[in-house]
Amino acid sequence: MTDVRLPDELRSQVRQALAEGRLLAFSGAGISAESGVPTFRGPEGMWKNRRPEDLATPEAFRRDPKAVWEWYSWRRRRVAMCEPNQAHLALARWALAGGLRVVTQNVDGLHDRALDLARLEDGDTDHGTSGAPGPASDTSGAPSRRPPRGHAEPVRLHGSLFRTRCTDCQVEEPYPIGRETGALPTCPTCHATLRPAVVWFGEALAASDLERSFEWASEARVTLSIGTSAVVFPASQIPFTTLAAGGTVIEINPAATPLTEHADFHVRASAAAAVPAVLGSRPSGVSGSDPA
Ligand code: OAD
Repeated sequence: MTDVRLPDELRSQVRQALAEGRLLAFSGAGISAESGVPTFRGPEGMWKNRRPEDLATPEAFRRDPKAVWEWYSWRRRRVAMCEPNQAHLALARWALAGGLRVVTQNVDGLHDRALDLARLEDGDTDHGTSGAPGPASDTSGAPSRRPPRGHAEPVRLHGSLFRTRCTDCQVEEPYPIGRETGALPTCPTCHATLRPAVVWFGEALAASDLERSFEWASEARVTLSIGTSAVVFPASQIPFTTLAAGGTVIEINPAATPLTEHADFHVRASAAAAVPAVLGSRPSGVSGSDPA
């Protein structure tokens, strides 16, 4: 069995970061691998038999919107059959308790679905936005007050498979599974073609998302870089921002990446095994079985 334990010094840093709400989880495709979502790179990766320039650029969409939508429809269906795993769930529970924040490069929505599940576990059936403080914590190290609603939402740096953006009026809307008709989707307002609301190669990331992510990275006492090959700029700079600000970076990935030699520690294990172990016992007030 893979060893997912941290040295004592790092364990106490993680505990302290969670207690202060200064832990940042930065995730990539590998966190969803055990849910059944294919990664991009590597022997089984989606870029093995496909070229990003044919499917994930604005030029590709202008050239052949149907081919691009077919690929995205396949990915939407594939992801819709997957469930969040123990890594998504452990992060969601701690995010809900105010211990950490999540920045993801993933467009699969599994962090959001884990958050919904964690809210249900927590007996929170009110999906309102009251921002009311939660119950006081006990000795688990969780912050004593629930953060305002919205704090737990991940920053989705590369967008979402389940949203569209109009190619003309730019309006962005939810695009839940089952909406497809086989024809190219069109904007209900201006009737122009809709595109997936994801960031393609050659496009800029939303400035507000980037700003927030780098701010969180520089405030973080500990950043966990989870399941990312750490090669796609500018997201790949997030852990380096934490390091430059004097914080600690722990990488969770079965393989080495360009980040590995800079990180303070490399947990060479899968996300579903390592993330719950690294975060330790679940925050108080969230029920269910204990993490492995
Ligand atoms: P990659 O496919 O580049 O990298 C996935 C990483 O996950 C690899 O380093 C694997 O070793 C690791 N991995 C695989 N299984 C794992 C597991 N069970 N637990 C933990 N780690 C595991 O995916 P990203 O780094 O997310 O961009 O790729 C970054 C961006 O490149 C994506 O957001 C996408 C892609 O092209 C856009 O679409 C703009």
